[in-house]
Amino acid sequence: MYIDPKRNNEITRLNFDSRQGHEAMSQPASEQQQMLNGDVGAVSAMQNTNERSLQSSEQDNPVLNASISSLAAQDPATEIQSRKTSGKYNLHDFQILRTLGTGSFGRVHLVRSNHNGRFYAMKVLKKRTIVKLKQVEHTNDERRMLSIVSHPFIIRMWGTFQDAEQVFMIMDYIEGGELFSLLRKSQRFPNPVAKFYAAEVCLALEYLHSKDIIYRDLKPENVLLDKNGHIKITDFGFAKFVPDVTYTLCGTPDYIAPEVVSTKPYNKSVDWWSFGILIYEMLAGYTPFYDSNTMKTYENILNAPLQFPSFFHPDVKNLLSQLITRDLSKRLGNLQNGSEDVKNHPWFSEVVWEKLLCRNIETPYEPPIQSGQGDASQYDRYPEEDVNYGVQGEDPYKDLFSEF
Ligand SMILES: Nc1ncnc2c1ncn2[C@@H]1O[C@H](COP(=O)(O)OP(=O)(O)O)[C@@H](O)[C@H]1O
Ligand SMILES: [Mg+2]
Repeated sequence: MYIDPKRNNEITRLNFDSRQGHEAMSQPASEQQQMLNGDVGAVSAMQNTNERSLQSSEQDNPVLNASISSLAAQDPATEIQSRKTSGKYNLHDFQILRTLGTGSFGRVHLVRSNHNGRFYAMKVLKKRTIVKLKQVEHTNDERRMLSIVSHPFIIRMWGTFQDAEQVFMIMDYIEGGELFSLLRKSQRFPNPVAKFYAAEVCLALEYLHSKDIIYRDLKPENVLLDKNGHIKITDFGFAKFVPDVTYTLCGTPDYIAPEVVSTKPYNKSVDWWSFGILIYEMLAGYTPFYDSNTMKTYENILNAPLQFPSFFHPDVKNLLSQLITRDLSKRLGNLQNGSEDVKNHPWFSEVVWEKLLCRNIETPYEPPIQSGQGDASQYDRYPEEDVNYGVQGEDPYKDLFSEF
């Protein structure tokens, strides 16, 4: 149990009645009724990818671009030792089964190894698209950061390779689906459930920051649930080794910190802001600065007051006021004691951090999957395209992805 038994404070379980499929049964009856009235069922893939798509300075914010591109040149080069993972596999080692997710830059497939019969996730990015969207450095960083990290709540990458047209990353396949899907099905999480996921995310962030890696894309779409219901953070597309500061505008609008929007130099502080937004979204069911117009979202991030729904617990209101603060000298996680301040906050007082790290605790929700079967029922269906992988021949971008 991650909750201290002496405090007699049991974790709330998220139970889904299989007959009704989508409604969370652990909420009070009145809330359940609200959910039944609303369309909280299937979350369409469109909603997932279009409404909260990634932003990257070079394409999406022409106003900010000029200043960013001049500053980006000052970014420190990444110099860090990584596990050797390239060249270990090739396409013929895998059978492609179905698409698990699509993003702005690529597609993730469920694949099965021809050698050991195990299931993996294969992320495929088209070189032409990467170059067009000016993501070459981010893609190389993604590979590099994934090859460095090793943590119970972070995805493990096994190897990378390339053909003439795309780069491939082979990762563990995480069966339980996105936290995003679970959240939309539940509409919102009860306080202890949100706390459980937040605490696991907190440990992952603490670990990344201890290695001077900023993650920069924290959101429920990038938090997956394993077969037992523990989290795995995936998508290192914006992760970067930053011992000092960086400037690039990237992330997902709702989650971007004000110092990123206003093109100030920034560091790990941005992940703690996003961490606050994540907790807010888990508890409320929506993010605090959302607007259908991205420019208005940015404006809200910079200026709008942070308001809480009345049902937020006073402790979490206190925590979020200190995470979602524009004042970097006050933002929890970004102060002298780093992540310790977050872990010691009263909202997390029941969390036994050492046990949580060992995953030696009961999770609030176990995804209904048949383990070991490559069960992908927890993932949305995406239209399958004819893939043209394994192309040999001329490769104008060969020099750009030499580490794959
Ligand atoms: N290791 C994995 N196991 C299962 N599904 C995954 C895995 N990695 C990614 N996915 C799915 O693919 C989606 C897109 O992958 P992601 O790395 O986030 O790409 P993008 O950078 O395009 O957002 C994820 O949101 C998730 O649904
Ligand atoms: Mg993603």
